[in-house]
Parts: sequence; C-alpha cells; structure tokens
Amino acid sequence: MNKGFTVWFTGLSGAGKTTISHLLEKKLKEWGRNVEILDGDVTRTNLCQGLGFSKHDRDTNIQRIAFVCKLLTRNGVAVISTAISPHREARDKARKEIGNFVEVYVKCPLEVCAERDVKGLYKKAMKGDIQGFVGISDPYEEPLNPELVVETNSETVEESTKKIIKKLIELNYLNPKGSFTHVYSPEEEAKIRERLSRLGYI
Ligand code: ADX
Repeated sequence: MNKGFTVWFTGLSGAGKTTISHLLEKKLKEWGRNVEILDGDVTRTNLCQGLGFSKHDRDTNIQRIAFVCKLLTRNGVAVISTAISPHREARDKARKEIGNFVEVYVKCPLEVCAERDVKGLYKKAMKGDIQGFVGISDPYEEPLNPELVVETNSETVEESTKKIIKKLIELNYLNPKGSFTHVYSPEEEAKIRERLSRLGYI
C-alpha cells in the first residue's frame, strides 16, 4: 500500500488554497495516487453543515475534517485539506490526530486577498455586513513551523505546486524510484518517467 499523507493547507480566504489543490490533485494522480480533497467550502455544505464561524464552530469544523483525513490517510490516500484553519491549536491537534501531516502555509498579504476578492466577501466584511471574517474582524494565526510556505503573491500556481511535490518527495511520501506499473501500462509509465525526469524530479 502507498504511504498515505495529508497536505494541510492553511491561509486566508482568497490566498489560493483551492486553486493549488486542484493542480496538486492532478499531479498526484499522475504519480498513480488516489487523491481526495476536503475543500473548506464543500465540507461546510455537508460534513460540517450547520456550523458557523465562532471560534468553537471553526475548531469543530477542523476537528471533523481532520477525522476524515485520518481515516483516508491511514488507508494510503493522498489527502488535501483546504480549510482556512485560522487557529494554531486546532491545526496542531489535526497534526497529532492524522500523523502523516504536511502543513503548507498558503501565504498572501491580506491587501492582495482583499483586492482579489474572488467571492466578494472582503468587501462585505469591510462594510461590516459579515461578522468575524478572518483577517478583517477575526484573527489568523500564522503557522510557526509549517513544513512549507508557498507565496501566492509572487509564485505561479505551477511553482507552488512543484514546491509541494518536491517537499513530498523529500519527506518520503512520494517515491520517484518506485514503480507505477500497478496503475499504468508500461508505455504510460515510460511517458510519466520521461516527464518527471524533464521536470527534474527523478
Ligand atoms: S474555517 O475558518 O472554519 O477553517 P472554512 O475554510 O471551513 O473556514 O470556510 C471558510 C469559507 O467560508 C470562506 O472561504 C468563505 O467562503 C466562507 N465564509 C463565510 N463567512 C465567513 C467568515 N466570517 N469568515 C471566513 N470565511 C467565511
């Protein structure tokens, strides 16, 4: 069985967590991995439906997501979580629960996130129409010791994703020397190896 792991994104709304997660998912599938994304916006409509944005509810949100990440991780899945997860303590609890935990701080200055305002929420939060918005009226606690920081203000999505893949190799969660033949035909595997080698991974 493959070694499971959870890439735990944390960062402000609009920093790029979901965008990077989609490219990362695609890349991990090319490595022959089964991938599951627990996207903050999606889990809030099912697994965590009914929870609000108080400290207690946010921490419960993270606890539930971490529980599912744990189940998947121990079964060899490559898991990606994209909840804001603004509280250090809740992230540290998730780390303990999951074990194979790769914390990636998706860093982007608040002004840039507010300028992007993909969902129009910063405008509302600044007007006071949304209470307790992370970065505006609620705190975001930066990770003190994440496995990796990606800076979406100065890196492309491709660059950030490549950094994450390299980190996963370094941490031994992805093995470039391993065989992919259990998932791919020999022809497909040869093509993948060629591409990985061109990218400098193997
Ligand atoms: S977390 O803080 O509990 O980790 P989560 O990632 O699940 O947050 O959900 C954040 C999403 O909920 C945001 O991307 C945004 O679309 C929406 N949202 C609604 N109200 C708020 C709020 N007050 N603060 C932050 N996000 C909010």
